[in-house]
Amino acid sequence: MSRIVIVSNRTPGKGPAAGGLAVALRKVLSNHEGFWFGWSGKLTETPSSKTHFEDIDGLKVAQIDLTADDHRAYYAGFSNSILWPSFHLRLDLATIEGYWYEGYRRVNQQFAKALMPLLKPDDVVWVHDYHLIPLASELRRLGAKNRIGFYLHIPFPTADALYAIPHHGDLMRDLSRYDLIGMQANRDVAAFTDFAEHQAPSTFATASTETIDFSKTEVTAFPIGSDPEAFTRLSTSPAAKKMIHRMRRALADQRLILGVDRLDYSKGLPQRIEAYEKLLANNQRFRRNVHLLQVAPPSRDSIKEYQETSDTLDAMAGRVMGRFAEPDWAPLTYVKRAYGQPSLAGLYRLARVGLVTPLRDGMNLVAHEYVGAQDPEDPGVLVLSRFAGAAEIFPEALLVNPFDTDETAEALRMALDMPLEERKQRWQALWAAATKHNVDDWALSFLKRLSPGIEDQAQVDKDTIYMASVA
Ligand code: G6P
Repeated sequence: MSRIVIVSNRTPGKGPAAGGLAVALRKVLSNHEGFWFGWSGKLTETPSSKTHFEDIDGLKVAQIDLTADDHRAYYAGFSNSILWPSFHLRLDLATIEGYWYEGYRRVNQQFAKALMPLLKPDDVVWVHDYHLIPLASELRRLGAKNRIGFYLHIPFPTADALYAIPHHGDLMRDLSRYDLIGMQANRDVAAFTDFAEHQAPSTFATASTETIDFSKTEVTAFPIGSDPEAFTRLSTSPAAKKMIHRMRRALADQRLILGVDRLDYSKGLPQRIEAYEKLLANNQRFRRNVHLLQVAPPSRDSIKEYQETSDTLDAMAGRVMGRFAEPDWAPLTYVKRAYGQPSLAGLYRLARVGLVTPLRDGMNLVAHEYVGAQDPEDPGVLVLSRFAGAAEIFPEALLVNPFDTDETAEALRMALDMPLEERKQRWQALWAAATKHNVDDWALSFLKRLSPGIEDQAQVDKDTIYMASVA
């Protein structure tokens, strides 16, 4: 039976797994032989070729350290100052330093060199996200013949944004070394296909007449999901109830509008606050009886553009407070820290409006989690950006153009005024879509497509689970 090897920049840590993705992939590895491979989170002065093995709550993890210089060039540099902004169509926020690419390549080579001796010939390798695009090339260069799949968690860029990325030809050739590429949404597959079909041969530096051959690579949308049932359970857990109780005391009869996002310029947070400001400016009746809570844990704060986003938000939150606050009423709370899933589930359940308005997003799991945590008898309303992959899954949300703050303000008004019957109808459709696209099925369908033999194992797993539950 093939083992499954998951590779990502970050590996799951000790204690309760943070995200739904980590939980789902952990589940895959508890049902199959295999291990997780990635960066240890440690930085060293000098390069080290040592791989550390750890058992983290029953999960086998193999990790390598990186030098501080390599990590800076690979993570803060090429991955998050070039690939991230370009893939999110924010070329204005990209910074290009030539030597970052060498660091990015070097780290991918280091990953390959450390992983190669651990691989058995029939292992199935599943690589995650933009930090590791060259990994299949580097493994193949060392002789790997394994089935290797790649999943891109962020959007795939349009062709002209891709052309703005240094070494984009090499990166696309790297992608052609995978057997299967999974993307979040149909729009991403369309953008990839557009590039693959119309690539200009002269663009590629190494051989001016050679186009990249994608004929051996399958590219398909596998929209990721969450575990909505788990969020339903979490939303009535003691920790969630405690959070709901605290919030009810603070809010009294104000209705809650909730945003939960990493503090990232792709999330459209300034536009969101502006839309809320317009809601209050245009509708006097909402003052004193709505409250916006924006939870925004800081992210990648060594990068200037992230610090600037944070400063902009501080200023905007202050401006809205100054404009509308009264001694006994604050229009918003802006919290720059992370909360555990149970507390978040409580906040989701309490919120009359889930405000998810990224300017561009691969999927956006907050939208899925919000749907999962609602009370079926009194559900809230999801206001969702049409530029999140989730918009393909949730057409029954109130879909908005997040750049148009008048439109978002009007969607907020509609959400707050929406009668119970319509809220229920919309939520039932959202719930059906969230359960159809759950994260366990996502992981299995990707793995089955990558390696059809895995299907048998999946069947065995289902039988085993069934037998266990009737035993
Ligand atoms: C996005 C990316 C992930 C990344 C996460 C957190 O969801 O797709 O690959 O792990 O952001 O970002 P960070 O830079 O903190 O790992």
